[in-house]
Amino acid sequence: MAWGASVRQVALPVECRPPHPKEARKGAQRTATFTEGCAMPARVVLAIHHEQEQLAVAPILTKMPGIDLVATVTSPGELEQLIAQQLPDLVILSSELAGGATAGLIERLVARYRLAVLVLLPAEDLRTARRFLKAGAADVLPLSSVADELPELIQTVLRQGAPALRSPLQVGRIIVFYGTKGGVGTSLLATNVAVALARYLPPESVCLVDLDLQFGATPMLLNLQPKMNLATLAQRFQGELDFEMLRSFLLLHSESNLRVLAAPSRPELAELVTTYLIERVLQVLKNHFAFIIVDTPNLLQDTTLAALDAADHILIVTALDLLAIRNAEIVLTMFQKLYPAERLRLVLNRSNTRFGGLTPEQVEEHLRMTIAARIPSDGQLAVTSINEGVPFVLQAPDAPISQAIFQLASLIAGQPIGLRETAETTGGSLFRRLVGYLLGEE
Ligand SMILES: Nc1ncnc2c1ncn2[C@@H]1O[C@H](COP(=O)(O)OP(=O)(O)OP(=O)(O)O)[C@@H](O)[C@H]1O
Ligand SMILES: [Mg+2]
Repeated sequence: MAWGASVRQVALPVECRPPHPKEARKGAQRTATFTEGCAMPARVVLAIHHEQEQLAVAPILTKMPGIDLVATVTSPGELEQLIAQQLPDLVILSSELAGGATAGLIERLVARYRLAVLVLLPAEDLRTARRFLKAGAADVLPLSSVADELPELIQTVLRQGAPALRSPLQVGRIIVFYGTKGGVGTSLLATNVAVALARYLPPESVCLVDLDLQFGATPMLLNLQPKMNLATLAQRFQGELDFEMLRSFLLLHSESNLRVLAAPSRPELAELVTTYLIERVLQVLKNHFAFIIVDTPNLLQDTTLAALDAADHILIVTALDLLAIRNAEIVLTMFQKLYPAERLRLVLNRSNTRFGGLTPEQVEEHLRMTIAARIPSDGQLAVTSINEGVPFVLQAPDAPISQAIFQLASLIAGQPIGLRETAETTGGSLFRRLVGYLLGEE
């Protein structure tokens, strides 16, 4: 699989109704279904909390031409089950259906099924309306306006098509950095790759998640002083999470536009962070960012495994010393049993050090795996950048260590990122190598 298949934004063909993910997987082509001039009626599901909502909406729907009221449901579970079976075109949803979790439910319906969702509010309330619109609702309508406005609103929403047609739905890639030994440089590389990507991609494209829950260092590497982090998020988390809630826990590294979810501020707070929370966080981030870079600790704890399970690519960071290579062998054997081979990539840090006589070629031969990226050693730049809290890709973008990070970022993004304008990048071998790599030639 080409790991740089790039910023995957779901671009659907313009047709009356987008294919359901299941059909899309089978390659089935859907044709016209519901907009004006389409033969089949639009399938609408009503998800209500009060009988009053049903009394207000159902008679309008049954009278509307071109509308088929498929079902009325009264709980989120029932709704999700029905959607999976019936593939409706529109859900008219009570804002109270899932209590405080309705925004999260909308986010899921939009992200997973690409559904148009119209939300019924008990009364006019701008703040709540904004919250649902941000979660991805196509529109909101107070109950008092249903009689006057619902038919036209339904036509408008159906004409606009699925949310993916109005605004591209982000399905980001999760890239997990895992070091085969403590201190091998995992955090430094993950942070610099994240900054490199964020600096050259559009704003709000990249998020760095620090899963070193006891000794997370990314705020220090980026000179950030977080008040919010994974532990404060865990204290607020009640089982449901949507982007609206997560957003306030993301820090901004303004020099690069990178978003950062920091690790707990003290080691004893690490235990607040559950595997389930990490799974939810990564799911939500995937729908909002093109790339989610995850820094992990050397310890294979449950939360690290949750990230590895969710990863599109796992970058195994190792170095030219026997202990790191032996661990790489152990880790690779384990990961190869757990994950498809194309998910795994080897990154060699401090690749130009030759203290023990080991060479990168010997490492490749021993591990029977190609090294995807070689990052040279630069002690002075690494230390200055850590001490000043300025990533070296920003401090010295032309330095060999930074250029090696840009090459790795380019492989991840599937497009050149921050590379120096040289014969290599303007048409020569690096670009060819990049394309070759993406095509699986290397
Ligand atoms: N390419 C490099 N050149 C020079 N020094 C480096 C390089 N990569 C990492 N270092 C140094 O190695 C040290 C450890 O780096 P880092 O904290 O990123 O490692 P880590 O694998 O994340 O460690 P931990 O296991 O504690 O999480 C840092 O002090 C950094 O300066
Ligand atoms: Mg680290």
